[in-house]
Amino acid sequence: MDVSQIDGVTKCGFRDRCHFSRGCRCCTPGTARLRRASLDLAFRLAKSSTPRRASTGNPEASAKLARICRPIHRDEIVSGLRDLGIREGDGVLVHSSLSSFGYVVGGADTVIDALLDATGPEGTALAPTLTGRREDGPASPPVFDVRNTPCWTGRVPTEFMKRPGARRSLHPTHSVSGIGPIVAALIGGHERSLTPCGEESPYYRLAQKGGFILLVGVGQGSNTTIHTAEELAEVPYHMQKEPADTIIIDYEGNRRIERLYLHDWGTPRCFERIDKELLDLGIMRIGKVGASTLRLIKSLPMIEFLVEKLRKEPRYLCR
Ligand SMILES: CC(C)(COP(=O)(O)OP(=O)(O)OC[C@H]1O[C@@H](n2cnc3c(N)ncnc32)[C@H](O)[C@@H]1OP(=O)(O)O)[C@@H](O)C(=O)NCCC(=O)NCCS
Repeated sequence: MDVSQIDGVTKCGFRDRCHFSRGCRCCTPGTARLRRASLDLAFRLAKSSTPRRASTGNPEASAKLARICRPIHRDEIVSGLRDLGIREGDGVLVHSSLSSFGYVVGGADTVIDALLDATGPEGTALAPTLTGRREDGPASPPVFDVRNTPCWTGRVPTEFMKRPGARRSLHPTHSVSGIGPIVAALIGGHERSLTPCGEESPYYRLAQKGGFILLVGVGQGSNTTIHTAEELAEVPYHMQKEPADTIIIDYEGNRRIERLYLHDWGTPRCFERIDKELLDLGIMRIGKVGASTLRLIKSLPMIEFLVEKLRKEPRYLCR
């Protein structure tokens, strides 16, 4: 079956918005069908009143099915985050796939609650609430209203930015939302950052404060902070040559224009290649909650490692 035939969606087999991250799991037809089938099964079993026994006749497959079909609760996510190394007081930026867990009781809100539990009242949780589009540029400048421009980074960030106490940065393509005591220091002035993920962005400021990146059920292709390293190393393919007059509307409804350099979406990347290196260098830890694979990455060492690498080999992250 061709990808375009699945659910009548042309851009991807599982969702229509993943054309923003080409090469992601959603665009792999076999995996997409398997995920959808597993999730449907997980939902049916989790909601059924009959006893659940997942058996396929193959012990390994049965174990996997049982893991996928078990409903996941807040406590289990919290202990998974603690096992990974998250402590109260930490700053954590989470990129996520809700469906990767299997069935989560309470959905995205449960994942957010678990993250806030793990980081505690002294910690700061962040979610990428990105809005950038491939066509953004001087000829088609983005219009960003912090109050209601939807993000394309998934259900968890979408719910996260609506939480009481959440603040969202004003950057017109790479906005970040946060909850916690240092949010203002992390996101303030993001819209004046010379480049979207550069030194004045929440991505780099979090790193400087010893923060972490958490990938929940997604790979390095979703790790926006890798762009920070590309921007600091000034790789030749990453930024548009001319600035765009972006339109930004803030929380008070004030409209302003910021002249900013935006990403150039033209160069295919292979961020996945850093996965093993981060693990070998002790910069990343991997864990599991339900069917989801979680990666916790120390942000500053990752950036430092990549900047050094990119200065020697500027196309290291390109396909
Ligand atoms: C694109 C992406 C968000 C898709 O992941 P996903 O799990 O399919 O989608 P979401 O995280 O938005 O979660 C919603 C899905 O979870 C599933 N879901 C709904 N309720 C659920 C529950 N209680 N428990 C588990 N899954 C549930 C549904 O399949 C839902 O899809 P639908 O809205 O089409 O019905 C993900 O693959 C990704 O790339 N995330 C990272 C994005 C990012 O940070 N990018 C930065 C780029 S630089």
